[in-house]
Amino acid sequence: MVGSGVEVNATMSSNGSLAIGKSMERLRVANGESFDPMAVVTEPVPPVADSNGHDAEKGREIVLGKNVHTTCLEVTEPDADDESTGDKEAYMASVLARYRKTLVERTKYHLGYPYNLDFDYGALAQLQHFSINNLGDPFIESNYGVHSRQFEVGVLDWFARLWEIEKNDYWGYITNCGTEGNLHGILVGREVFPDGILYASKESHYSVFKAARMYRMECVKVATLVTGEIDCTDFKRKLLPNKDKPAIINVNIGTTVKGAVDDLDLVIQTLEECGYSHDRFYIHCDGALFGLMMPFVKKAPKVSFKKPIGSVSVSGHKFVGCPMPCGVQLTRLQHINALSSNVEYLASRDATIMGSRNGHAPIFLWYTLNRKGYKGFQKEVQKCLRNAHYLKDRLREAGISAMLNELSSTVVFERPRDEEFVRRWQLACEGNMAHVVVMPSVTVEKLDFFLNEIIQGRSIWYKDGNVHPPCLAADIGSNNCSCALHK
Ligand SMILES: Cc1ncc(COP(=O)(O)O)c(C=O)c1O
Repeated sequence: MVGSGVEVNATMSSNGSLAIGKSMERLRVANGESFDPMAVVTEPVPPVADSNGHDAEKGREIVLGKNVHTTCLEVTEPDADDESTGDKEAYMASVLARYRKTLVERTKYHLGYPYNLDFDYGALAQLQHFSINNLGDPFIESNYGVHSRQFEVGVLDWFARLWEIEKNDYWGYITNCGTEGNLHGILVGREVFPDGILYASKESHYSVFKAARMYRMECVKVATLVTGEIDCTDFKRKLLPNKDKPAIINVNIGTTVKGAVDDLDLVIQTLEECGYSHDRFYIHCDGALFGLMMPFVKKAPKVSFKKPIGSVSVSGHKFVGCPMPCGVQLTRLQHINALSSNVEYLASRDATIMGSRNGHAPIFLWYTLNRKGYKGFQKEVQKCLRNAHYLKDRLREAGISAMLNELSSTVVFERPRDEEFVRRWQLACEGNMAHVVVMPSVTVEKLDFFLNEIIQGRSIWYKDGNVHPPCLAADIGSNNCSCALHK
């Protein structure tokens, strides 16, 4: 695979001549490999490890508490004459060229993670030469002038319109990722209610439970329905004995594994029925996955600051399609005073989790929001939902257990038996389940390609009848299960 530096030992120099460097030659000799300057990475998929973490071919071990360095690209000291020979430059160019090929290949086979890989930000390449940093608060300039706050606030205003809050009533910022949005939203909740208890469904993203650990908050896990949605009957059961303490609730606008959307209105109603007035609870909406899709889905519960919610976050590299991890977090301005303090050094307010903040991300978001607009996103959402239905229907037709939640583009299905297949298609798995998150970059052709491979694979995996496809009734309901017992 490309990660092993030993494969990378030659390249074309900028004037077109082939340069074979000393360091590269050393690597080649050390590994007894025949030298092929034009080699491409034919099989960039990492080797398969068995369930104990052992690499089937090379004995690779995955051991918690022990770092594995076998696939790293070593950083080497330049040789004294590197500048004159150009060896090092050539070596590095070669590494990057081969890495690029791997990225192209891995992008082609990507289905399992909710990332939209379909974009063209060529127009922004000119900005790579700048160290753009929005350190501190988006609404208060620091003394550092190379920033992109004007783009950041434009993007925040766009989301404020989407989630129905007036410009003067919200505060927010562009985060590093959905996780940071959750960490921030829950932190604001904790600052508003220092003795509040955090409630989150057990299918919430692990960052929610990480927040509880980081802030040393009491955290109550709530059961879920088979769809993955929060079970409000259990929520009520868990709320009632704790009525003396305020509630901080994480509501999922798309769970990680099943893409389930918690019923925000029912959560609010449950709180009210349990006697919680609006000044006794704080709701953070984790919209990392579908925060930008939901507003365009007919019949979907509306995420809106007109409802008694405290904050909403979304990832920018998922549905939106930013090439670097980022996210958006919005909360009510009134809450932010509880969190912030003045930092003289920055001449700013300190309400963000991070200090330095990626100033490129807001420009990428601004660019794509401008290009697509509400209409563009609406079209993409419709396409994703259509394609997700197509995938689910074809899986079921082929006798494969599969489920698709009504408001979701995450198709959950039987975990493929072959781990090599799982790796190749980069499927995220949990127990007997795998899923494909249908994003705008997932076309019907790609799905057909995948479907043909999985159907063909199953005809081999289950050929002799000794092993059977797993039962998924407990995970996705017996009506969606096609195992021998439930089909
Ligand atoms: C529901 C949910 N929340 C939060 C996150 C974290 O988002 P990020 O990967 O942007 O940190 C994810 C990631 O998949 C998610 O599915």
